[in-house]
Amino acid sequence: MECILVTGGAGFIGSNFVHEVRARQDDVHIVVLDKLTYAGNLENLTFNGSRMERVSFVEGDIADAELLRRLFLKFKPSRIVNFAAESHVDRSIHDPFAFVHTNVVGTCVLLHQSLKYWEELSFEQKDSFRFLHVSTDEVYGSLSLSDPPFTETTPFQPNSPYSASKAASDHLVRAWFHTYGLPVLTTNCSNNYGPYHFPEKLIPLMIVNALAGKPLPIYGDGQQIRDWLYVEDHCRAILRVLEAGKCGETYNIGGWNEKTNLEIVHTICELLDEMRPRADGISYKSQITHVKDRPGHDRRYAIDARKIERELGWRPQETFETGIRKTVRWYLDNPGWVERVQNGSYREWINKQYSPAA
Ligand code: NAD
Ligand code: DAU
Repeated sequence: MECILVTGGAGFIGSNFVHEVRARQDDVHIVVLDKLTYAGNLENLTFNGSRMERVSFVEGDIADAELLRRLFLKFKPSRIVNFAAESHVDRSIHDPFAFVHTNVVGTCVLLHQSLKYWEELSFEQKDSFRFLHVSTDEVYGSLSLSDPPFTETTPFQPNSPYSASKAASDHLVRAWFHTYGLPVLTTNCSNNYGPYHFPEKLIPLMIVNALAGKPLPIYGDGQQIRDWLYVEDHCRAILRVLEAGKCGETYNIGGWNEKTNLEIVHTICELLDEMRPRADGISYKSQITHVKDRPGHDRRYAIDARKIERELGWRPQETFETGIRKTVRWYLDNPGWVERVQNGSYREWINKQYSPAA
């Protein structure tokens, strides 16, 4: 049976990817390697409340070379999909070193152990092996309103410790292709949303705070623009790139769906007003508050996703209207999940980030 190693598979996108692969292919063994940081949650890897068949879980760090060596020997993966990362921009401003550890050093160790493993494979196995690195549109920096969307040849201009660490990891991946011939692929995707999204990020934070009667904190003027993509569409794009992408190439993935943060929050409030109206009949919009801006806040991201459409035939299947409705429904239907992730370390982060003195 083919084996895929999914690093960071207990996080938001990684766990959605595991569900997507399982739903499509019953002849694949998935090995999830995850350090289970605050963002990793084994509950994301259950199906109808039970452990998933054909999925093995290994707790560990992608920067642990010896663990990787043993893991490759035992499971012999033919595909590696690297989701493991520190992923939250605001946290990178407070603690950049964790981002350098996982996103830069971790990716480097993973690449090098993958290379050592790959070099020992047979000719046919070498030929079909793929290392796919999941990256972000933030490596390209920030756009003005009149700039064209990011293409695969837009120069890197990362602005936050998070995006700088991801840009560094993308460069390492490129170097392991050009210098050593490791068959790599890189994807640069825009903002995702959907089930299992940790409620420190804009969309789930707003849903969770709205339902709890808490303020909805908008950074600055709320006119920053992001290009939102439903997470299942991202997972389908990754699978398509794994299947047919050209080694050494990068593929931009996006939803053709640019919205300001205020538009996003208004939509969420309107959906909640319809699906779970407040007892007092007042709109959730009354909870919106403007708070201090994020330092170095990127104004606009937008992805030109024509390459992946032209070369690999991928397009998003969800519109923002269908995707955000499904997302709000998921949070309404899963209060237990929400409650369990809002543990002590979550509350500590929220207090640190949103207290008036912060
Ligand atoms: P996430 O924070 O929800 O999940 C990251 C996962 O990686 C967690 O399960 C965590 O425990 C694990 N992890 C962290 N450090 C690790 C380490 N050293 N070793 C092993 N596991 C480790 O992140 P996400 O939103 O699911 O993002 C996944 C990937 O996609 C990241 O590489 C991110 O840069 C990229 N990306 C995210 C978005 C988005 O909108 N969320 C968009 C584009 C790209
Ligand atoms: O573009 C892809 C990136 O999208 C990924 O690489 C990152 O991993 C992911 O976290 C995301 O980064 P953003 O910084 O764009 O996402 P976030 O949800 O943190 O913020 C979205 C926008 O909303 C951003 O302009 C900041 C704003 N925001 C966010 C929070 C948490 C607020 O106004 N208030 C908030 O409380």
